[in-house]
Amino acid sequence: MNRIFSGIQPTGNLHLGNYLGAIRNWVRLQDTYNCVFCVVDLHAVTVWQDPVELRNSTREVAAALIASGVDVKQHILFNQSQVPTHAELAWLLNCVTRMGWLNRMTQFKEKAGKNRENASVGLFSYPNLMAADILAYKTTHVPVGEDQKQHLELTRDIAQKFNHDFGVDFFPVVEPIITGVATRIMSLRDGTAKMSKSDPSENSRITMVDSAEDIARKIRKAKTDPLDLPSDKAEFSGRPEAENLMRIYAALSDCSVDKVLIKFGGQQFSTFKQDLADLAVATLAPIQDEMRRLMAEPDAVDAVLRDGAQRARDISEPILQEIRDIFGFLR
Ligand code: TYM
Repeated sequence: MNRIFSGIQPTGNLHLGNYLGAIRNWVRLQDTYNCVFCVVDLHAVTVWQDPVELRNSTREVAAALIASGVDVKQHILFNQSQVPTHAELAWLLNCVTRMGWLNRMTQFKEKAGKNRENASVGLFSYPNLMAADILAYKTTHVPVGEDQKQHLELTRDIAQKFNHDFGVDFFPVVEPIITGVATRIMSLRDGTAKMSKSDPSENSRITMVDSAEDIARKIRKAKTDPLDLPSDKAEFSGRPEAENLMRIYAALSDCSVDKVLIKFGGQQFSTFKQDLADLAVATLAPIQDEMRRLMAEPDAVDAVLRDGAQRARDISEPILQEIRDIFGFLR
């Protein structure tokens, strides 16, 4: 069976983009793939994290994944720092990747901003750690949102250069899985900006721990335009907020954008927003109940992660040993 790897950062609360763009797809792919899901705490520390918050956040993300339906018996869920393979392979890949390749990464440019000289070296080499995550399991498929596409292309380049330089056919060519209507959920305050944990405005995102009131309020306040809702995709042009809200509706109700256009086209935003809020609450509430139950037993969550880490080591350590041999390191 083909293997999936995917990861999510424990930096603050997860949002609807994470859920619809990634987590929900992971859960659905569990029937057809062997899955390894990782809370990537080593990635998180490429920017400053408060240690107490990091620990909490790591547990909370694990709880969110389990509550959303990740099957930790059938598949693997762990936090990255418990499996040393990732850091060691990332070092080796540091020596395969070219500076020029990393210089082209748009996410680094966005995250480092104007303060590039003061960014951590880890933030710059972040994509190599991500490639290590994927390649350490000889992963074949990686389900992610649109924003990770460039990193996956880099992973393919790294794998191919490794195979070529050493004259081996070792790493498979990784296929991204970026599908559905929710591959890029936008901010509720600005339809041209991605919904993101780092947006300073809380109202820009719905988080997986928001109360029903907060969800309804944020959707009520979501930016729109003075026109009625579009009834045709062509009318999305120049109306990114309308498109985003209709896409979110389609994703939450698991139907096509066309169906949403038929249902709401020509109507006012106010009734649509009420329906959208109800739908978001109905989707998130059961997950939130389960998250609360899990968070009340932190030891049990930690035990799941430890067990997952052991199984992740069992798969990745022999693969890393082969890589060490290919490099020519003495045993
Ligand atoms: P992260 O933690 O930023 O996001 C986790 C997942 O959520 C998706 N996502 C979105 N999807 C749709 N709309 C949005 N607004 C949105 N925001 C986030 C992301 O695409 C991602 O799938 N570098 C990765 C974590 C990572 C990883 C990996 C992923 C580390 N190693 C190996 C895959 C394979 C990241 O920062 O994701």
